[in-house]
Amino acid sequence: MCKSDLTCRPMGFSIDNIRADFPILHRQVNGKPLVYFDNAATSQKPQQVIDALVHYYSHQNANIHRGVHALSQEATDAYEAARDLIQSFFNAKHREEIILTSGTTHSINLVAHGYRSLLSQGDEIIVGQAEHHSNIVPWQMACDLTGAILRVLPMDQNGQLKLDDFQNLLNTKTKLVVVNQVSNALGTINPIKTIIDLAHKQGARVLIDGAQASSHIKVDVHALDVDYYTTSAHKMCGPTGVGMLYGKKELLEALPAYQGGGEMIKEVYFEGTTYAGLPHKFEAGTPNIAGGIAFGAAIKYLNSIGLDAIAKHEDELLQYATAGLKDIDDLIIYGDVPDKTAVISFNINGLHPYDVGTLLDQMGIAVRTGQHCAQPVMDFYGIPGTVRASFAFYNTKEEIDLLISGVRRAVSMLL
Ligand code: ALA
Repeated sequence: MCKSDLTCRPMGFSIDNIRADFPILHRQVNGKPLVYFDNAATSQKPQQVIDALVHYYSHQNANIHRGVHALSQEATDAYEAARDLIQSFFNAKHREEIILTSGTTHSINLVAHGYRSLLSQGDEIIVGQAEHHSNIVPWQMACDLTGAILRVLPMDQNGQLKLDDFQNLLNTKTKLVVVNQVSNALGTINPIKTIIDLAHKQGARVLIDGAQASSHIKVDVHALDVDYYTTSAHKMCGPTGVGMLYGKKELLEALPAYQGGGEMIKEVYFEGTTYAGLPHKFEAGTPNIAGGIAFGAAIKYLNSIGLDAIAKHEDELLQYATAGLKDIDDLIIYGDVPDKTAVISFNINGLHPYDVGTLLDQMGIAVRTGQHCAQPVMDFYGIPGTVRASFAFYNTKEEIDLLISGVRRAVSMLL
């Protein structure tokens, strides 16, 4: 199998070939083979992405957009080629609509900071109830500074947003709607196309937090007609510290600059500064060059497998795991709906999620426990947290068997 040239991967979904690409999947944890089910926190990295990082630092390391020398040109070309890959992956119309950021949190803060100048007293922002803190707090900050009001779009007992309530919340004062495509805490998929269309009818803009969606569901920002879309490379087999903000060109042009510094300027005088055009206006300072290039390698990698094949495999894992876990007495799954990605958030009556997670870790099984940076979701259910198992396309049914037997063992030890 080719390691470096991703175009030569054989067609078809071969789990053995895929797993061979991920060195970390072959290590042991606590004396047991690693079973990695914390993919919603961060995905593992294939050798191709690791190679892209090493290649940049070994052969191309230079600052970009700055030098006339060969290395700088090469590094610039590699970085900008990654932007093209990202543009094409998300089907953005213009390459300058892709702003490279440090991740979803940075992307959302960038837009929220701009809205501090665009919002007025009494304007309204609608936020989903199942948001990650990173899609709540920046908007609270913007509201505190402008006198705008944050309205919460409630979810039902299954973690699904109440669309009837959404229609009632939307009004002429609504400036922005901010929701995730997929809840990080529950895995539930929101009907974002409907939300976008309804918001646009009312003249409101929409920002989608796509961090938990973009490596599981095909995202076409053009077809969605979304105004802003954010994601992180590290959830997509790419490195940490790099991500994307997509914004419609005219909206990004109208959005005030975020951080000031080198690269984002046209001319600087002590009397005043003019700003660079897109995308550089929002890319102050030396970016995460290696990370950006490796983000491109991750996109190539995902393309080489295909999002349809990924979604199919992950859904099989989800159905298999859901059925197995439901067989365990007193196990409650939160957000158990047909429309979800391969995330299972659960508790067992009488057991604290940390205790279950700790015992699973001793068996080599990595899950996340706690609030998942989504405290309002936990408050809604009146629980301290959940055990969250989140699957990726490199996971197997055999690993899920280990999870199910591991949970059974944990229950018998703790109850
Ligand atoms: N947002 C990441 C998670 O859900 C860290 O675990």
